[in-house]
Amino acid sequence: MPAAEVMSASSIHAAIIMDGNGRWASRRGLPRAAGHRAGAAAVRRAVEAAPDLGISTLTLYAFSEGNWSRPAREVSALMKLLGRYLTEETARCIANGVRLQAIGRRDRLPPRLVALLEESERKTAAGTRLVLRLALDYSSRKSILDAARRISGEVTEESLSALIGPDVDLLIRTSGEQRLSDFLLWECAYAEFVFTPRMWPDFTAKDLAQAVAEFHARDRRFGAVTARTA
Ligand code: IPE
Ligand code: IPE
Ligand code: MG
Repeated sequence: MPAAEVMSASSIHAAIIMDGNGRWASRRGLPRAAGHRAGAAAVRRAVEAAPDLGISTLTLYAFSEGNWSRPAREVSALMKLLGRYLTEETARCIANGVRLQAIGRRDRLPPRLVALLEESERKTAAGTRLVLRLALDYSSRKSILDAARRISGEVTEESLSALIGPDVDLLIRTSGEQRLSDFLLWECAYAEFVFTPRMWPDFTAKDLAQAVAEFHARDRRFGAVTARTA
């Protein structure tokens, strides 16, 4: 089988901590919001490239619970940009078989943004090529707590996992930082981590392909012994 087919036969859950928008902008003497705008273009590139790389689920960290502590102006610019992204991209998602879902808290987001999210989730619900999960007002600790509170009977690893979400195969963080910042803590139990110094607005389809290639070159052992280690 040609390599491309082997890769598209896999179904990777990739998650990206899209970091470095602010630094990208400051280095160019631009306001931080300009970095976020350039970051939105990088999101489009990643979403478009993902399915052909064997990624069936892509979870993007777009706004963390901790990000509320940024200046009000930056928060509001980010919310506006997210709204614009949804308005502009929903049609493209439908055309490309991308199913959009939001994870995280909705009750503190601007009501207009929540309405756009719900509309986009509804309109893209039939998509089967890629599940695109946008983490907004997201905290992994809170999502684990929520799941634990929702279980009425016995708490098991399976029942918790079913509520928290799918395990991550590949976790990418841009901008050179090497931390999880409260992202998918439970789901990353056996994830492969790829850290790149590239700032998020500079991240290209080729960078994503490289991260996936690195993932395929890793020996995932899940605690066991494999041919490579025996
Ligand atoms: C990531 O870029 C985008 C969000 C957190 C919303 P940053 O805004 O964190 O950029 P840096 O880390 O300050 O460069
Ligand atoms: C994590 O990035 C959140 C997002 C990418 C949305 P931050 O830039 O907010 O994280 P810290 O502050 O460096 O940990
Ligand atoms: Mg950052």
